[in-house]
Amino acid sequence: MTLGTIDLATGVNIAYLVAFVCFILALKGLSSPKSARRGNIIGAVGMFIAVGMTFVDGPVHNVALIVIAIAIGVVVGIPAARLVKMTAMPQMVAAFNGVGGGAAALADIADFVHHGGTIATWLQVCTIFAVIVGCVSFSGSVIAFAKLQEVMTGRPITYPGQQVVNALVGLGIVGLAAAVLGISSVPVLSVMGGLAVLFGVAFALPIGGADMPVVISLLNSFTGLAVAATGFVFDSIPLIVGGTLVGASGTLLTRMMSQAMGRSLTNILFGAFGSVVAGEGGGAAGEQRPVKSAGPEDIGTLLAYSSKVVIVPGYGLAVAQAQHTVKELADALEKKGVEVAYAIHPVAGRMPGHMNVLLAEADVPYEQLKEMEEANSELPSTDVVLVVGANDVVNPAARDSPGSPIYGMPIIDVDRAASVIFMKRSMRPGFAGIDNELFYDPKTTMLFGDAKDSLAKLVTAVKAA
Ligand code: TAP
Repeated sequence: MTLGTIDLATGVNIAYLVAFVCFILALKGLSSPKSARRGNIIGAVGMFIAVGMTFVDGPVHNVALIVIAIAIGVVVGIPAARLVKMTAMPQMVAAFNGVGGGAAALADIADFVHHGGTIATWLQVCTIFAVIVGCVSFSGSVIAFAKLQEVMTGRPITYPGQQVVNALVGLGIVGLAAAVLGISSVPVLSVMGGLAVLFGVAFALPIGGADMPVVISLLNSFTGLAVAATGFVFDSIPLIVGGTLVGASGTLLTRMMSQAMGRSLTNILFGAFGSVVAGEGGGAAGEQRPVKSAGPEDIGTLLAYSSKVVIVPGYGLAVAQAQHTVKELADALEKKGVEVAYAIHPVAGRMPGHMNVLLAEADVPYEQLKEMEEANSELPSTDVVLVVGANDVVNPAARDSPGSPIYGMPIIDVDRAASVIFMKRSMRPGFAGIDNELFYDPKTTMLFGDAKDSLAKLVTAVKAA
């Protein structure tokens, strides 16, 4: 290379480097709701550069097939991403993640077939690893998608001897992996991939639908690892870097989600084997006990004459798509001189950042969003807490009842405010399937109805007060 000019290989490597920097900046951007949109765009630009460069980097065969595959991906992906409802985002991620893991496994199998199994031993190790992990990620994600989309039951599916069956399938995979290393056989590699698909199904079946977002995050990190291993097989630095970033960020996200749910990952993955009984510790779900309820007019007046109101959004806000209406209510209250803030629990809703995304969509100012610790310090001086479609994330059983299935999960201490309004449609429990003692507390008032309808009525009542 002479000064002032660079050869093609160096140019491609520089472009890859730019793409990697984009990936890292994208992850950084995605860590805050304020910068998430920008992070997403930077990540897409990085991916565009990385994919574009693979056409320049070395000989490319079957270009027509690749272009057709990209066209199919674009035609399916763009409308799917545009049309998906916010509440269906976890299953969308599961679907994308599953095809990623499956693609990594297929690429490695194809390479193994291409070389008739005669590749260096350490590349065989990478191939075996990528095929196993990619196949588990694929089939596990398919089950996660089916559970969340309610194509199949979301309940944990268990049967006697399940752990023994799973262990046997696992041992079978290990045995076949050793055989592949010994005899470099393509059919044995394929059977091992098939068993790994079965293992992914067996692994996901006993996990309840509502725990699936954590599992999807874990499978996402698996896909990253499979892709990184594929990068070694194909001598592709972009695959190694991209896969490692996905693997690492997926692992961190899995850890953070389990911590925010107050559960260990082992409990989430294997809890069904010990058959956790919902209803334990927090009172039986659906129990008939008297509660105090009021209409929107009375509650609107109470809110309008408060000095500080904290809104706690939850899954029901997402179901009701009430984010714009809740913002209208906050605006109406602020016009009356009421101080309004939103308390955001890290696992409110069904996916990380669920509430942040919804409230950002409604242009709620970021300064009004308080994270759990900050909100908790403000609640004792709060007049009214408005719990909109949230339940588990404010259930005091998580703090006070050691026998409760959610014991240990950090919660928003709404019971420390002067009064609490619960907006929900019925006395049905939330995700954890347990009753909430706070419903029966003298300081609590229930406002029954769909969150969006009730909020709209509250807006009218506050304006009239
Ligand atoms: P939940 O405890 O699931 O409670 C949601 C409440 O919303 C329900 O009690 C439901 O009561 C009410 N609701 C549903 N539709 C409604 C509507 N249209 N209008 C008004 N209310 C409605 O939700 P949460 O407090 O947000 O807690 C989240 C739970 O999900 C936690 O247990 C968490 O561990 C779990 N989880 C979260 C994640 C992430 S990452 N966010 C991942 C996996 C699991 P009605 O049916 O009576 O209306």
